[in-house]
Order: sequence, then C-alpha cells, then structure tokens
Amino acid sequence: MKRNKITIVGAGHVGATCAHWAAAKELGDIVLIDVAEGIPQGKALDLMQAAPVEGYDSIIVGTNNYEDTAGSDIVVITAGMARKPGMSRDDLLNMNAGIVRSVTEQIVRYSPDAYILVVTNPVDVSTYIAYKTSGLAPNRVFGLSGVLDAARFRTFIARELNVSFEDVTSFVLGGHGDDMVPMVRYTYVGGIPVEKLISKDRLDAMVERARKGGAEIVNYLKSGSAYYAPSASVMQMAECILKDKKRILPVSAYLQGEYGETDIFAGVPAVIGGNGVERVIELDLNEEEMSALKKSIQSVRNNIAKLS
Ligand code: LMR
Repeated sequence: MKRNKITIVGAGHVGATCAHWAAAKELGDIVLIDVAEGIPQGKALDLMQAAPVEGYDSIIVGTNNYEDTAGSDIVVITAGMARKPGMSRDDLLNMNAGIVRSVTEQIVRYSPDAYILVVTNPVDVSTYIAYKTSGLAPNRVFGLSGVLDAARFRTFIARELNVSFEDVTSFVLGGHGDDMVPMVRYTYVGGIPVEKLISKDRLDAMVERARKGGAEIVNYLKSGSAYYAPSASVMQMAECILKDKKRILPVSAYLQGEYGETDIFAGVPAVIGGNGVERVIELDLNEEEMSALKKSIQSVRNNIAKLS
C-alpha cells in the first residue's frame, strides 16, 4: 500500500512545525521545500533523526526542487512573509500574492491531483489566488482560518471556566482578518451554550482577544508570527482529508451561493473528508451575525480587487 505524501511549502517556523505535527501523527511521508538552500534539508534531516526517539515512521525530505514534490496527496502552502508588529495581515498582500501564485504553478505541475491547503496571509486572498492559479476543483483548495481562530477563542473560554479545552466547541466565520466573526451563539461547553456560563462582558472581551489573537503573538515575538497553533490547525485539516474524517471544521472555503456569496473564499463551517471540502454548512444567522459576516467577506473582496 502506498503511503500518503505531504508537501509543505516554506520551511520557516510554520512550515517546519507543520512537518513536525505531520510526522508526530504519522500522516505520511513529508517533503519540506523552500527557496532557501540548506534550510529545508537541515530541518527535515533533524526531524527525521527524532523518529527513532519518538517512534514515527515518516520519511522526511528537505529540498529546493519541486520535482521532489511530485505525486503529493496534500500540499500545504506556508511560503511568504509574516507580518511585523503594527502591521495587519492585509499589509502582506503585495508581498505574498506573487509567491502564492508561483508556488501554486509549481505544485500543480508536479501534483495535479493534490489537495492544496493555504496558510500564507492574507489567507482568504491567498487561497483565492491558489484556486484560480491551480485550475483545481473548489473542493480541493481551501485555507486555514476558523480552526485557528476558534482554537484561540476555545482556549480563552476553557481557561475562564477551568474546564477541558476539548469540551469547548465553536466556530469563527468570515475572513481571517480583524473583522472575523467569532460565533458566540454557536459556542458550547460540554453541550451547554456558553452564554449560560459566562457573562456578556467577559464574552465580548474574549471575542475581541480572539480577533486580535494573531497580533497579540506578533507583538510578543517582534519578528515572525504564531506557528504552533496555526500549524496544528492546518494539519488537523490535512488529517481530516487523509483519514476521511468528515469533521465539521470552519475553513476558508470557496462559496458558490452559500451565505449569499459567490466567487470568494471565506471562513465557513464545512464537512472536511476524503474529498476535501465535501460540503459547506449554512448556519442560521441572525441579522447582526449576518451583517458582521458580510462586512468581513467584503474586506476579502476589497483585497482581491487590489490584486494586479
Ligand atoms: C495568525 O493568526 O497567527 C496568523 O494569521 C499570523 C498572523 O499574522 O497573525
């Protein structure tokens, strides 16, 4: 039986940590590719030498050559610049758009049947670029957003209530930007609506902290952005494909009429399984939630309009 092949483009903190989670979960063999000579090779070798200690059997290869990525089942794009303190994710648009475009061209040349998962910011626009450049079906290209944003929101709630992180479920909708929409009404703690357990004031503060969760870490790190939670989140999405889990996760998916939107990527709940985005789930939103979602999606559209 053939092993899964997972390519991770970009061997910086996010890419290397994606490789780490993929190996630890034994999702398949891993190719780490980057333009920087030596970095992917060194990190891949180091990670493979952890295998005898940790007991995983993934073969991990570092390379600068796309030929080595041929026949990948999943490709995760992390290549590009990270923001610095004071910048928004949207400020990366001009720097990262061209990188995503050229990486995608190389990917589909060697792996025409891959699923492409995008992390590079601004992620909803990067995912749109990868989709348009790849020519792949919309179920095959999607981006990281709500799994990460909801993980942040879930973390704050679990700590507030001193309960297991696992027992908090939530969705964050819209673009992965400053006006993302954490869905308080669809947040549960062990099946109990969160609004029954935490006051509105405290929840509002946690919504705001989740919205600014990426910036909080950028401000601490000074150089670079978060990588443990982003990479864990995107590798959970990859795992759902490879194991046909059919989990309902918030991801940046291509909308074709759902939520009244077309030809755009934005964070929505979707069933993620062996066929990638198997279906988008339309939540019943009230007026306030729908208008927040529309505002957030409009920001993604505005950024797409800026692309040359
Ligand atoms: C995140 O949310 O951590 C990422 O989008 C990186 C960033 O710039 O915040």
